Amino acid sequence: MEPGELVTLAREALPRAYAPYSGYRVAAALLTEKGEVFTGVNVENSSLGLTVCAERAAVAAAVTAGHRQFSRLAVVAEGDAPPLPCGACRQVLSEFAPDLQIFVASRDEEMQKFTLQELLPHSFSFRKK
Ligand code: THU
Repeated sequence: MEPGELVTLAREALPRAYAPYSGYRVAAALLTEKGEVFTGVNVENSSLGLTVCAERAAVAAAVTAGHRQFSRLAVVAEGDAPPLPCGACRQVLSEFAPDLQIFVASRDEEMQKFTLQELLPHSFSFRKK
């Protein structure tokens, strides 16, 4: 699947984000190596530290469905800045997909492309990669 289509799928999921505290809705679409897509949205909580980011929600959905190999991730948000995955999400993504391609798009802007290697060099792992 092309990056633009993945961004479109993430944009379709954006209204389902639950972000009453920050007002900042985020959605992610994760492409498996078999070509399936799993979406996730941020799910906030009144105990703010319990908030789940969109990227980790997408990983959890995919892994729950039996997928552990991913090739691309699209992340979209309503703000002006490109929604780069936070550090915790980068580490979680690196568990399954150290060579992941990441496409981020804010509300109106063109998407930008990164690799997970660029965003999280020298990630923690028990295993030698
Ligand atoms: N958020 C994400 O969903 N992904 C990130 O990588 C960073 C932040 C969410 C969490 C919270 O609901 C809102 O953005 C503001 O931090």
